Parts: sequence; structure tokens; C-alpha cells
Amino acid sequence: MYNIVNVFNMEDYVKGVIIVVLSDKIASFLTKGSFIRKMFEEGDRLRKIHGADKVFDFTIGNPTVEPPQKFRDELKKLAINPEPGMHRYMSNAGYLETRAAVAEVLAEQSSLSFSPNHIVMTVGAGGGLNVAFKTILNPGDEVIALSPYFVEYGFYADNHGGILKVVPTGKDFLPDLAA
Ligand SMILES: Cc1ncc(COP(=O)(O)O)c(C=O)c1O
Repeated sequence: MYNIVNVFNMEDYVKGVIIVVLSDKIASFLTKGSFIRKMFEEGDRLRKIHGADKVFDFTIGNPTVEPPQKFRDELKKLAINPEPGMHRYMSNAGYLETRAAVAEVLAEQSSLSFSPNHIVMTVGAGGGLNVAFKTILNPGDEVIALSPYFVEYGFYADNHGGILKVVPTGKDFLPDLAA
């Protein structure tokens, strides 16, 4: 119950609104997951005191570079002259031309042969990992995360019955395979 009070305001708690909706698991996850957001807020607070150029925020992987002008120009062009059907559903894997472009970049970067058939577009890394875990995990399967890692990985694995096993790494960020 302490977890719930921590996350939601006391008034709702007293009214008994929240108690019936949250499972014990989600109530406990909410407090565990929130620390990364607290660190993010702390970064914001410190930036206000010391200046944005003095605080290096490694909390939630926010990009430090802005999208290129060309990208903004394209967005503007599409907003002004929308292509018919551009807000409709697409095939599950994503637009073929987008997947072909991603495959080309990956092939270039990795020297492996990627085709659009190897690519499925998802809503970000979290969405992609959830799809991957749903596809491959059986209940109780272990997922290895090399530490330091993004704390949400534990929740992603749990969503699909997996158990996150955190493995420490050395200065080179590689695990000690002998251990
Ligand atoms: C290391 C890492 N993995 C995954 C994610 C989730 O990514 P997305 O926002 O693309 O779902 C983040 C987001 O900050 C991240 O920093």
C-alpha cells in the first residue's frame, strides 16, 4: 500500500479509487521504475542551477543533437501538402520503402546483407524489444543485461514472462565470461 501512496496522491488513495485498479505487481513496479525519472528530474534541477553545459545527463538517452534542417523541411512540406492516405494504417511491418532504406543503412554499417524482409518498423526501441521478447520468450526464460543497462529492460522482459539477469562488466563494458 505504501507504494501506491507514493505514486498517486493521498486523496485518491483515501477515496479507495486506486487500490482496486492496480495489481500488486504494477504498484511495486511503479516505485521501482520511477527512479530513472527522478534522476532525469534531478538533472533538470541541476541544469537550472549550474547551466545546461555543465550537466551531463545520461538518464534516459535523450538525443543531444537536433534533427537536421532537411528533416524539418520535409515535415513542413508534408504538413502543408499531405499525401492522400498518409494517416491510414500501413502493413504491419511498416512501409516497404522505409524498410528498404533501413536495410540499406544497416548493410552499409555492418557489411551484412540486409533486405527489407529482415526489417520490422516499431514504435521506438521499447516497442521493438517488447515485440522481440513476445516472439522469443517462454515463461521463466532468462534475459541477460550487461550492466550498466537501461532499467526499463527488466520491465520489458517481465511483460513477456522473462526474468532479467544482470551481468556486471569491466572497464571495457564486456562481461567476465569466465566468472
Ligand atoms: C538505452 C535505452 N534503451 C531503450 C530506450 C527506450 O527507447 P524508446 O524511447 O525508443 O522506446 C531508451 C530510452 O531512453 C534508452 O535510453
